[in-house]
Amino acid sequence: MELAGKRIVLGVTGGIAAYKAAELVRLLTGEGATVQVVMSEAAARFVTPVTFQALSGRPVFTDQWDPRVANNMAHIDLSRAADLLLIAPASADFLAKLANGLADDLLTTLVLARDCPLLVAPAMNRQMWENPATARNIATLRTDGVAIVGPGSGDQACGESGPGRMLEAEEILACTVAHFQPKLLAGKRVLLTAGPTFEAIDPVRGITNLSTGKMGYAISRAAQEAGARVTLISGPVCLPCPVGVSRVSVSSALQMHAAVLGQIAENDVFIAVAAVADYRPARFVGQKIKKRLQAAPPTIELVANPDILGEVAALPRPPLCVGFAAESENLAEYAESKRRSKKIPLIVGNLIEDGFAGDRNTLVLFDDDGQHPLPPAPKIDLARQLVARIADLLEKTR
Ligand code: CTP
Repeated sequence: MELAGKRIVLGVTGGIAAYKAAELVRLLTGEGATVQVVMSEAAARFVTPVTFQALSGRPVFTDQWDPRVANNMAHIDLSRAADLLLIAPASADFLAKLANGLADDLLTTLVLARDCPLLVAPAMNRQMWENPATARNIATLRTDGVAIVGPGSGDQACGESGPGRMLEAEEILACTVAHFQPKLLAGKRVLLTAGPTFEAIDPVRGITNLSTGKMGYAISRAAQEAGARVTLISGPVCLPCPVGVSRVSVSSALQMHAAVLGQIAENDVFIAVAAVADYRPARFVGQKIKKRLQAAPPTIELVANPDILGEVAALPRPPLCVGFAAESENLAEYAESKRRSKKIPLIVGNLIEDGFAGDRNTLVLFDDDGQHPLPPAPKIDLARQLVARIADLLEKTR
């Protein structure tokens, strides 16, 4: 339950994306939030308040003069109780009103009278989003401290394709959860590697491992939630890129090595979570190896891959380097010896008991202060604890 105890006012304005807001209510309440829906009059033409009432379990407000509010101050009462005001979808018209402080219906009045942070998820046709007036309004809102999430890019209801479409409900949920995380890495830049590498033998075969990338992706999400600018160099995995993280997809260890060294300058932290293949085939066979053309089973000669973490740690002015040690036995001994040999301040020991694939994990942090076991927990919780430790170490080395 990522939003337990949080009170969220969800404002829905007029746009076809209003249907996605219904799903959003379900996701927010599923994470334990109390959701109070307020709709503009136009929004109620796209989806009826009854839908939102059923999903949120609370009466929906649309009218400033709603007789259900005894003191006739719905705009004050509703926002006073909230931890967050979230507007999804936010139409171009609504953003224009917001940027100019207009208050001509319940939702705009409530936003103007707010006493809590405001997150908006714009949704509109591509031309409306690219119109200089909208760009001006967005710039004003950012200056005013309003958090803007999205919009995404892609096919639109109007038949066009381009920027302007509202983020998916799951992405807005992730932004909402992120909003409530402490900004321990504000202003920092973090580079990570994650997933396995794939070392090609021929066009259809290769050497890889069972890393799913889940831990690395969870850490990139936790670092982004903590306010860092995050770049994720990812081996081949089947995971969506966390919202706000910029991902570079690679396949082999050599590609990962080149991508990391190309991006490492200006980063404050480097976290090597990837399960990089230590060796690759010495030669890539350009055509598929044919069984019937072999006199005997072929042998594959291997050569060593570069040690990405080791090289980054040896740079003249290295970022704070964090390594991972996945071990099936002697965790403390092996992890500590890796930490010393790679000359890094922090290594995360991961005792592999039941493979890489689960959503939970058992980790032990090893640094100059000794061992810090993290109790078994979902990967995202462990990732947040690791980020907190990294923030502490950054503070100490300043
Ligand atoms: N790593 C790396 N580049 C490599 C190999 C490993 O950046 N070519 C990083 C991993 O991302 C991880 C750490 O180094 O953070 C793992 O250390 P290492 O001892 O190289 O890992 P293993 O290959 O698992 O070592 P061993 O087989 O000896 O256990």
